[in-house]
Amino acid sequence: MQKNTDPKLSELILFFGEHGKTIKSGFLKSQDKAGTRNIYGEEQMALDKWADDVLINGLRKTRLVRYIATEEQPGIIEIDNPKNQFGVVIDPLDGSSLIDVNLAVGTIIGIYPGNVLNKGENMIAALYILYGPLTTLTLSTGNGVCDFVMDEKGEFNLTAQDIKIPDAKIYAPGALRRDYLPAHAKFIADLENDGYKLRFSGSFVADMHQILHKGGVFTYPGFKGKEKGKLRLLFEANPIGKIISDAGGAISNGKTNILAIQPRAIDDITPIYAGGKKEIRLIEKYMS
Ligand code: F6P
Ligand code: MN
Repeated sequence: MQKNTDPKLSELILFFGEHGKTIKSGFLKSQDKAGTRNIYGEEQMALDKWADDVLINGLRKTRLVRYIATEEQPGIIEIDNPKNQFGVVIDPLDGSSLIDVNLAVGTIIGIYPGNVLNKGENMIAALYILYGPLTTLTLSTGNGVCDFVMDEKGEFNLTAQDIKIPDAKIYAPGALRRDYLPAHAKFIADLENDGYKLRFSGSFVADMHQILHKGGVFTYPGFKGKEKGKLRLLFEANPIGKIISDAGGAISNGKTNILAIQPRAIDDITPIYAGGKKEIRLIEKYMS
C-alpha cells in the first residue's frame, strides 16, 4: 500500500504469502522422496509436488492469474475465465534436496503482466519465501526490495525496506572444479586470491538471500559437458535476478544481463552469476 502497488497485484502477492504459510506447514508432514523425477531429471520430493499442487490449486480457485508455469510442470497452464491477465513463474520448492537435513529451502515467484515466455526485465514483481528458522518473504515490485518476517499468527510483518546489496567477500560456487571452463576458473581463482569465503548450501534461494544481505557472488556456471549450466532461466534466474538487480546488484550468464534474454522454452537453462556489480563486471571481462 505504501508503494502504491496496483491492488490486483497486491492481492496476488498476498495470495503467495498466505500459501507460503500453507507450504511451511507441510514440512512436518513429510521429508520423503516422491519416487518420481521432474522434466530436468531431478528426483522429486513429496513436498515439491505438494507445494506445486497447493499453489496451482489455489490459483485455479481464485483465478487471480491467467498463465502459470512451474518447475514441476511440463507446460504452461492457462486458467479458464481469469480475473486478471497476470502470468506467474514458480519454483515451488527450491533447494528441496535439503529438506531431509533441515536446511533452508524456499518458494520463488516471478509475476508478469501476461505471457510468461518473456524477458525477466518485463516482470512487474518478484518474490521468494524462505523457510528457515524464520519464514521470511522478500519482495520487489521495482520500488525497493523489502523483507517481511512471518509471526506466530502467520502474518508477514515488514522488517526491512529498500535493501541494497553490500560489498563483501563471499562466494557461492556451484559445479565441480574439475569441470570449470577457463574464464570461470580464472574468475574463481581471482576471488580466492582476494580472500573470498566459501558459502554454498545447495539451496539457490537461501544462498542468494545471504548474498543479498551480506554481499558477494553466487555462481552456477556453464561447465564441461553442460555449457548451459544447471539452473532454470524462468523459475530461478529471472525472479532472483530481478530482486538482486533492484537491490543494486546484477545477474549475468557471464556474457550478458540475464534479464534481457528472450526465453525460447519454459525449461531453458542458463549459467548464472548473481551478486555485486563488481563481481559481475569481472566475469563478463574474462568471458568477453
Ligand atoms: O534447484 C536446483 C538447485 O537445488 C539449487 O537450489 C542449487 O543451487 C543447486 O540446484 C545445487 O546443485 P548441486 O547439487 O549440483 O550443487
Ligand atoms: Mn530450484
